[in-house]
Amino acid sequence: MKTLLTLLFLTLICFLHHTSAGPVAVEMVVMGACCPGYNQTRIPKARVKHVAMTPDGCTDKAVVVTTVCNKKFCIDPSWIWARNLLKEFKKSTAGSTSPRAPFNRSRC
Ligand SMILES: *[C@@H]1O[C@H](CO)[C@@H](O)[C@H](O)[C@H]1NC(C)=O
Ligand SMILES: *[C@@H]1O[C@H](CO)[C@@H](O)[C@H](O)[C@H]1NC(C)=O
Repeated sequence: MKTLLTLLFLTLICFLHHTSAGPVAVEMVVMGACCPGYNQTRIPKARVKHVAMTPDGCTDKAVVVTTVCNKKFCIDPSWIWARNLLKEFKKSTAGSTSPRAPFNRSRC
């Protein structure tokens, strides 16, 4: 009886381990620096916490905007608004750790 319980327990652990591996793997893709696609969503600068290009390893180049709610948006890198946003953000963070106005002013 005891061995059966142990076996059951181990099986459960194994099962939990396997099921939790699923969401984690999916999250890695979603939270990863690459973008599965992009569009032209205009995000108010006050809600923008971080702007960066996707890293070199990504097949789809995009401008990745993180909002004050930690939501990431992938923006069309050829869109002039996105290019300007990236430029402006870099300027606003130059020589400081947190972005200056007009960025990161709003609350989540
Ligand atoms: C644009 O993409 C973001 C995710 O990157 C999504 O949340 C938003 O709904 C999309 N907007 C349009 C108009 O497709
Ligand atoms: C954005 O502003 C909040 C306060 O409103 C601050 O706590 C946070 O550190 C800032 N984010 C960054 C990336 O500087």
